[in-house]
Amino acid sequence: MYEMKDEYLTGIQQIDEEHKVLFEIAEEIYQLCVNDFVPDKYDHITELIRRLRDYAAFHFKSEEDYMESIQYKKMFTQKVQHDSFIRKLDSMDLDIVDANQTETIESLLKFITDWLIEHILETDKQIAE
Ligand SMILES: [Fe+2]
Ligand SMILES: [Fe+2]
Repeated sequence: MYEMKDEYLTGIQQIDEEHKVLFEIAEEIYQLCVNDFVPDKYDHITELIRRLRDYAAFHFKSEEDYMESIQYKKMFTQKVQHDSFIRKLDSMDLDIVDANQTETIESLLKFITDWLIEHILETDKQIAE
């Protein structure tokens, strides 16, 4: 379902490899979303949120280092979007997550899907232009 297609490639190998991992995490969130055999998904959800957050933070730092190395002009816009992504994940209330597991996974899936489409296709791809 979630698999990185060629249209998402920026042409910068390291960034593309890291984006691939973000797609893999999105696929895991999707699989958890459609899995009807796990009655209590709380531990899985918090684990996925933590992994998504940590990997995204690692990737953003790596992308920002690259942009700095080429003195990329739109780096500030990138940083604002990166920071808001991390803030959103940090601000998730885990008590509410537990009480609304289905809604949480669905909204997490929508959040990462929108991000992959909008940020990578529209913002990250410009880095190599
Ligand atoms: Fe980015
Ligand atoms: Fe990126």
